Amino acid sequence: MSAAVINLVYLLAAALFILGLKGLSHPRTAVRGNQLGATGMLIAIVATLLDRQILSFEWILLGLIVGSLIGAVMALRVAMTAMPQMVAILNGFGGAASALVAGANLVESALPNAQLPAPLLQLTLAAAASGIIGAVTFWGSLVAFAKLQGIISENPLQVSFLHYINGMLLLAAVGLGVLLALNPTALGYYWALLVVASLVGLLLVIPIGGADMPVVIALLNSYSGLAAASTGFVLNNNALIITGSLVGASGIILTAIMCRAMNRSLRNVLFGVWVPSEAGPKAEDVYAGKVKAASPDDVAMLLEGARYVVIVPGYGMAVAQAQHAVRDLMQILEKQGTLVEFAIHPVAGRMPGHMNVLLAEADVPYDRLKEMDDINPRFEQVDVAIVIGANDVVNPLARTDPNSPIAGMPILDVDKARSVVVIKRSLSPGFAGIPNPLFAADNTLMLFADAREGVQQIIAALKSK
Ligand code: TAP
Repeated sequence: MSAAVINLVYLLAAALFILGLKGLSHPRTAVRGNQLGATGMLIAIVATLLDRQILSFEWILLGLIVGSLIGAVMALRVAMTAMPQMVAILNGFGGAASALVAGANLVESALPNAQLPAPLLQLTLAAAASGIIGAVTFWGSLVAFAKLQGIISENPLQVSFLHYINGMLLLAAVGLGVLLALNPTALGYYWALLVVASLVGLLLVIPIGGADMPVVIALLNSYSGLAAASTGFVLNNNALIITGSLVGASGIILTAIMCRAMNRSLRNVLFGVWVPSEAGPKAEDVYAGKVKAASPDDVAMLLEGARYVVIVPGYGMAVAQAQHAVRDLMQILEKQGTLVEFAIHPVAGRMPGHMNVLLAEADVPYDRLKEMDDINPRFEQVDVAIVIGANDVVNPLARTDPNSPIAGMPILDVDKARSVVVIKRSLSPGFAGIPNPLFAADNTLMLFADAREGVQQIIAALKSK
């Protein structure tokens, strides 16, 4: 294939990636976006393999079939709650692949009469960058996977000196990269760089607490893109440079969105430790004598008279897998002429888009899902807000207590609704570990139950009326 043709094909693939990303920005177009991106990837891979002529057509086909089968089995079998660790491990593989391809090219370029894909200085510098970022991504992602899978402890560690050690190790890795650029045939520098960067990846993620993992995973996703882009410079491959840059940029944008929605800086996520505040109000003081427990019948009665209901899902809905029951509740209420909408907080649950994915799986129409900024001004008109397994994202302390760990975090203004029903198993705190005055508010009823069972009991009570 001529260079012009291959670059045109890469341009087509890049256009498909960008259209795919655009499609992914809205649930309605997300499936098509995904398909466009996957088509772009297929075109880029096949064109590259044909162009390099290192593999016969049969091997390409075999690779495609085996890879597709593994991907399909993983996608079909993974539980929704295990998605973050699957993304983590895939990011890790991306980082490792980039570092290994860069290394293989260094080995090749050191051979006598080697044909270099790029000028030697570009090749070695880009390989060093790919090695450092790829190794950090691989080991960091493995630790993230192990934490989320419960293989190692999820608890955050408070070891500030670790960050200094890590800083020094990173400097050492960069130094080895410079030595490699000065002595391109001394491959020992590259392997040493990989070992040091691997330690950086391990030590970077080990101190971070389990529920901060989604932010770290988005960041590692961005790193895997940067590693791929660096390898693109090693190979002088435009498709890899563009794809890697798109992944790098979208990962960092997602990281920033999550940090903003949690009102935390990236520095705080990476180097701080999330500990429950000692200064805030004690649970006994917030709840004593003020919490009103309700039965499913009480809630059904309240809902019968409601014209406008907003459902606020949270982490507990995911744990209980209550999304199908929630959809049934929506349908029953709609049949009685009630307007039902869903209020979606950007960091409800434990991963970006967690609630959107679950509700889409249960066929809740996209147009019922309202983002925080759209729904918040409307809560005063809401007859009943039903909070299902959500806690921090509806905690008014974020607005009122400047010492609270969630101070300043934008929340859903559920407390402004005429009545609030909260379905959760107890008065236990959420991720932030603090009490929630919403549960003790005059207009709140608590239905203490597992989210799925509670919703099913309300449905049964509504049907029996
Ligand atoms: P949380 O504040 O974590 O509260 C979840 C609540 O669900 C708990 O209080 C728990 O109470 C309840 N629950 C657990 N299992 C349940 C079940 N089977 N049935 C009913 N309820 C159940 O959740 P949230 O409001 O969704 O907020 C998310 C938090 O995670 C935020 O603090 C956010 O910053 C953090 N976070 C989110 C992300 C992303 S990207 N989404 C990333 C990192 C951190 P009981 O035990 O009493 O039932």
